[in-house]
Amino acid sequence: MTTTDTQVTAPSLPVTDLYAKLLRNEPLFILDVRNAEDFKRWGVEGRSALEVVNLPYYDFIEDEEGSIARVPADRDILVICAKEGASQYVAELLQGQGIQAAYLEGGIASWGNFYDIRDVVNKPSGRIVQIARPARGDLSFMVISDGVAAIVDPLRHIEYYLTVAQEANVTIKEIFDTHIHADHISGGPALAQRLGVPYYVHAYDAIHPIDMLPAKIDYHHLVDGQTFTIGQFSLKVVWFPGHTLGQVNYLFTAPDGDSYLFTGDGIFLSSFGRPDLGGKGETWTPMLYQSMFERLPQHITDDTMILPAHFSHLDEGGDNGLFVEPFGTVRQQNDGLKPRTLEEFTSYVLGHLPVFPPEYVEIKRVNIGLTIPNEEQASELELGKNICALSNA
Ligand SMILES: [Fe+2]
Ligand SMILES: [Fe+2]
Repeated sequence: MTTTDTQVTAPSLPVTDLYAKLLRNEPLFILDVRNAEDFKRWGVEGRSALEVVNLPYYDFIEDEEGSIARVPADRDILVICAKEGASQYVAELLQGQGIQAAYLEGGIASWGNFYDIRDVVNKPSGRIVQIARPARGDLSFMVISDGVAAIVDPLRHIEYYLTVAQEANVTIKEIFDTHIHADHISGGPALAQRLGVPYYVHAYDAIHPIDMLPAKIDYHHLVDGQTFTIGQFSLKVVWFPGHTLGQVNYLFTAPDGDSYLFTGDGIFLSSFGRPDLGGKGETWTPMLYQSMFERLPQHITDDTMILPAHFSHLDEGGDNGLFVEPFGTVRQQNDGLKPRTLEEFTSYVLGHLPVFPPEYVEIKRVNIGLTIPNEEQASELELGKNICALSNA
């Protein structure tokens, strides 16, 4: 039995709608028709575990009847493939059998490149905009006040930042990276070059930690305690070595006294940045300990809002799609921030280090201008979810 000659159509699901469903934690049954290797590398993740079955496309069409029998007939099915074609075909086959099936518009590639933009703060004194790439768990921010803007940890697709600035009718004045990233390609140097504005990073991160080669990008080096003004917001640089030697946190204070700490890969909402991606995990762990337990508390209060550069799980954020919590809440819910002696902390860290993706060494080279990838290489380097946090932490 085949259904290939029937004229059945299947609806497509745009990635924006998929994200809305994931945030609402709607039950989803995903039929992923990518090959087993790609399926294993990464996929769509929800606030809680999704029901996912992998039936590779070529296996599926080789035995259509048997494959269709493995798909629950009483569920709404979302079929996903690499780029769309195969999943559309399979969704139509399922529809032809009376199974409610849609396919993901643009395939997993579109999901991987999807950006979600929403306000964290919107007051007369200014806005903080969260610009997220949910499939990767990457977060970046734009602070807007009195017609000017600063960007923190911009991601590779810089057009989104230019659009936000254009729609708000503001001028981007500074680009800040919290550190030289290992898991994704920064949009910082490209944005700075495009706009003719300074790109800031701590000088300790401008040397590749493995190659020991200096950066070839144009950057302005930051100093601990350095201050800036962005409209009505003040900004203080808080050096936070540990994840990298030059990791900094950016402490923004609004005129009403509310404060916002952009932590990069310092502390996350339910974990913190691993100290081993420079190849010296054991050596850097005591520095991370000092940063977390001695340096950071000097600069913030329980009311300071924490805005990290990553999440590991979608449920770290609210169903409003925002990944921000007051430090007081983070302290309570984040196992990594529980009081420990240095010895306890060291064994905790070294016992929870996830796999070190080999491409992370190359991504750091890209981020300091030592190598320049083409689009295909850049997208391959950034495939899948970030692994910047400690595992199970
Ligand atoms: Fe990082
Ligand atoms: Fe990261």
